Amino acid sequence: MVLAPLQFFCLFLLEQAVVASALSGTSPPLILPRANNINITSVTTQDNGCPLGSISSSISPDGTALTFGFDQFKVYYGPGYTPADKTKQCAIAMTVSYRSGYSFELLGATYHGPAQLDSGMTGTVSSSYVLTPASDALARTQVNNTGPFTGIYTKSDTLATSSRILAPCQGSPVQLQINTRVSLISRNAPVSGGFDDEAPFSLGVHQLHLGWSRCEG
Ligand SMILES: *[C@@H]1O[C@H](CO)[C@@H](O)[C@H](O)[C@H]1NC(C)=O
Ligand SMILES: *[C@@H]1O[C@H](CO)[C@@H](O)[C@H](O)[C@H]1NC(C)=O
Repeated sequence: MVLAPLQFFCLFLLEQAVVASALSGTSPPLILPRANNINITSVTTQDNGCPLGSISSSISPDGTALTFGFDQFKVYYGPGYTPADKTKQCAIAMTVSYRSGYSFELLGATYHGPAQLDSGMTGTVSSSYVLTPASDALARTQVNNTGPFTGIYTKSDTLATSSRILAPCQGSPVQLQINTRVSLISRNAPVSGGFDDEAPFSLGVHQLHLGWSRCEG
């Protein structure tokens, strides 16, 4: 199956409503900021999962979803590939401006992409997040996709209330550092996967879910 990134991104947008309502079930009531209350003022990326020109970023009009699209975040396994091809990483450093009097927290993340995993293969995506200044606490999200599976996966990880990172009321702009790693583990010899140029596991979209609150006083 060959799906262009744009196609699975569109599919993902259709699924967003479901994901959002699933998350809001576990969250306190959210105060949605007006449009223009949050902006990404700069983004820099590095590492082999997101070479220049292969990543896009956007923020939803209501400020509750920060979305990254990847074209090259693919891991390979099989004849002709080295063990290093089983892992890729991307470090994103961004500056986020938001209206004073509001604060936001990271509620969780959703990952989305194509996979063709044989039995015994697991594709894992994990991210760490650091918000500066604000918390020195590190938040992490992770999902595992276990074979056999062929298709488009959509998986979310919701942060426990105690491990959410919170932006300060008067701290704008903040720096958000996101390190994401995509990896493939197999219990079996590489009998398939990677014979053609199609990657057995890819990250296409990483979406961060943000919850907003109005500051007291
Ligand atoms: C975000 O950018 C828009 C357009 O430039 C601007 O009107 C708005 O004030 C900005 N908001 C913040 C919080 O920086
Ligand atoms: C994913 O798999 C790894 C390795 O088996 C495990 O340590 C981790 O807890 C799993 N994560 C999730 C979210 O299931």
